[in-house]
Formats: sequence, structure tokens, C-alpha cells
Amino acid sequence: MAEAGKTFTEEPTTHEKWIKGQGIPIFREFSIPSLKELEVGPWERLGAYGAYVVLEGAEDSNDAYVLEISPKGTVVPERHTYEEVFYVLSGRGATTVWQSGGPKRTFEWHEGSFFAIPLNVWHQFFNGHGNQPARFYVVTSAPLVMNLFHNLSFVFNNDFVFDDRFDGQEDFFSGKGEALPGRVWETNFIEDIRTFPLIEWKERGAGGVQRRFQLSEGTMVAHVSQFPVGTYKKCHRHGAGAHVIIIQGKGYSLLWKEGQEDKQVRVDWKEGSVLVPPDMWWHQHFNTWSEPAKYLAIRWGSIKYPLFKSWIISGKTDTNVKEGGNQIEYEDEDPYIRQLFEEELRKNGIESRMPPIKYNK
Ligand SMILES: [Fe+2]
Repeated sequence: MAEAGKTFTEEPTTHEKWIKGQGIPIFREFSIPSLKELEVGPWERLGAYGAYVVLEGAEDSNDAYVLEISPKGTVVPERHTYEEVFYVLSGRGATTVWQSGGPKRTFEWHEGSFFAIPLNVWHQFFNGHGNQPARFYVVTSAPLVMNLFHNLSFVFNNDFVFDDRFDGQEDFFSGKGEALPGRVWETNFIEDIRTFPLIEWKERGAGGVQRRFQLSEGTMVAHVSQFPVGTYKKCHRHGAGAHVIIIQGKGYSLLWKEGQEDKQVRVDWKEGSVLVPPDMWWHQHFNTWSEPAKYLAIRWGSIKYPLFKSWIISGKTDTNVKEGGNQIEYEDEDPYIRQLFEEELRKNGIESRMPPIKYNK
């Protein structure tokens, strides 16, 4: 109950109270420069180490945490009615999953592996390395679920079996998959997301390639984008909660709220950085390094299980804003965008591979 005299906004959410109670560091930031170096603290509940990553642009629609398992360590098993998508930042090991009374299934992972634990399925993690910790970046739908039901017993002690998501299949995490329309690969496990074959995506410009991922019958999905040396992608916007994890290269992103170009936020990134563009903020990614830039975005916007309107229209994130979409064509950019990019390339001795622009008036 809110205390007398307090406004609603002063009462912390169920999710906020819960993450504070976990006793691990909480980073409330716009972006994180290095997930691999992020400070973690002992996480008693799970018998591991962790840190919460509450990024502004997630806007309480989802959250993330870093989980670290000591060499030869084991994490306390848990299940919950929020989704979790895992990217392995370092190390190697195995995970066992099961429904109450069902068969146990174990799969192995290593640095670069990417998977989603199906909803409310028991799962336990093991570090397979004798002298090296294993570290994950995990994106979850916990804020949405915890704040909607505001009952942690419903979240953590719920006997409902979502057998439409996982029914004990032996080959569930075998890495098999199916190509769906729209560059979507439907699967539950990818051994190394960093080397997964990508497909040309002309509309976003710069010779970029991309692939989208539908995982474990989840509402949260992902995509990987790569763009070449000396290039930058077109500016675009979409809903909150896309965790852009850099998996290769170096560069920067510019982000701004519609009509607030003068208050642009710049985020410099490298492998292991993460940023989340806030809801419908314009954002644009620039490769300033001598190798292709690649990122994994864990986000809303499932085509199979649509949720938010701001993501449903994301089908138009590669359509010109002048035609009702959410992308700014190169010709309509502020000339400052190109100037800054060329300056940054010069600092690194890299030549621009962007075609010249004839700006629209
Ligand atoms: Fe984006």
C-alpha cells in the first residue's frame, strides 16, 4: 500500500523491489561499455554472481542481468513465468532443463552461444571449465510479468506447464531450425551466433546483412545485423527494449528523441558493449573500425507472437518516414551526420565507403 501523501509514482514497482532485494549491483544506465568487465556481486539466491542491468531504453518492458558462474560452479535451479534469452559472453558449460515430472534434457554452450529457456521450465546451469568463470548476458520479460501480476509466488512457484512451448522434446536444444519468411530463423539454440550466416538487407543501406530469430516459442525475439568497414546504416526508430549487444567491431551510435536533434546522445561501442534505444527514439549505427561491425539485438517484435503496437509497426522500420515508415533516408539526413562519420573515420585512418549524398531540400 502507498503511504498517505505519497503519489503513485513514488511507490517502487514490484520488479524494482525485487531486484533491490537480490543484493547484487544494479546498474541504471543508458548503455554499458563492457559487459565482460561489468562488476558482479555474490547472488545468494542462485549461488552465483550477478549484476542487474536496468537500461533506460528498456522502459520497464524488459530488463537484463549479467550472470557469472564460478569455475566448476553450479547455479541453483529455478523456473519462472517470465521469459529469458541468453547470450554467452565467455566460458563454456551446460544447462539442464525439465518440466516437473518430465525428462531432463541437457545441452552444452560456449562463448557466442545464444538460446532461450522456455517459459516456466526448470533450468540449471553448470560451468564446465575448471579454472575459468562463465558469463552470460540475459534479457528477461520480468518487469512486465512482475508488475502486471505483482505476486512473486505466481512468478516463481507456478505449477502451470506451458507444454505448447516445451514438452520435454529430446532434440529441443539440438540447434535445428527452420527458415521463415522475412529473414527469420526459428530455433531454440544457436551454437555460435557470431558466425551464423546472414542475409542481405538492402533497405537499411550500407551493404548490410541481417537475420532474425524466433526462439523457444517466445514473445521476445532477436536479430543479428552486420555492416561493412567504412559504412553506417540508415537512421530508424521502433519500440522500447531492444538490447543491442555488440558482438564484433567498434563504432558509435547516435540517438535522439523526435524533435530533439540538439540533444543527441552518442554511445561509443566495442565488442561487449550494450545499448538500448528508448521508445521511438531515432537511432543510427556507425562502423568506424577496420572490421565489419556486428550486433545481436534481443528485443520485442515477434512476428509470430506480436505484443506491442510500437513493435508491430516495426515491419516499417525500413520504410521511408516520408512514406509512413520509420526510417530516414541518407538524402534526408542532417549533413552533420556524414561530417561526423568522416571525421571519426579519419581518426582511425579508415576510408569512407559511403556513396556521396545529394541532399533533399
Ligand atoms: Fe534499431
